[in-house]
Amino acid sequence: MEYKEIQLRYGQVNHFSELNPEDKVLFEKAIEAMRNAYAPYSKFKVGAAVALANGQTVIGSNQENIAYPSGLCAERVALFSAGAIYPGVAVKTIVVVADPLDVRATVSPCGSCRQVVMEYQRLHKNPIRMLTGAMNGPVTIIENANFLLPLAFFDAGLTNPAND
Ligand code: THU
Repeated sequence: MEYKEIQLRYGQVNHFSELNPEDKVLFEKAIEAMRNAYAPYSKFKVGAAVALANGQTVIGSNQENIAYPSGLCAERVALFSAGAIYPGVAVKTIVVVADPLDVRATVSPCGSCRQVVMEYQRLHKNPIRMLTGAMNGPVTIIENANFLLPLAFFDAGLTNPAND
């Protein structure tokens, strides 16, 4: 057996104010979006903002439900809205931020959101940058969604004739 290694590369700043001007504005939009989170069950508010190749920004926030699995993360609310409003337009950057008043005030995308980001990256053949973190804390910068989900599942598994 041969072992292979995958390297993960990411950047970090101590506060979003250290980001480049474009990212900083997007981060501020995600903070604004966070205020409209509907999170009565977890009390963990999350905001997201997506910058598109056409210059538009689409926001999202987590939306929960009494039937817990029916709720949706902020990232997917924003990405699916972007897909619905601007179909075919590439996603450039997505920012995800958590409620600064929450003691768990940092956020890292869940597996399902990573899968969704990966698919849009492949669909549009354009690297998606992802910035995640807290309003008053460190922000992690990932330059390509491939780093989010190594060995991801793709359509090759579905179209394999051996599966027929
Ligand atoms: N959540 C997000 O919106 N984004 C993430 O990246 C992590 C988790 C939401 C889902 C749920 O409403 C709450 O945070 C607690 O898990």
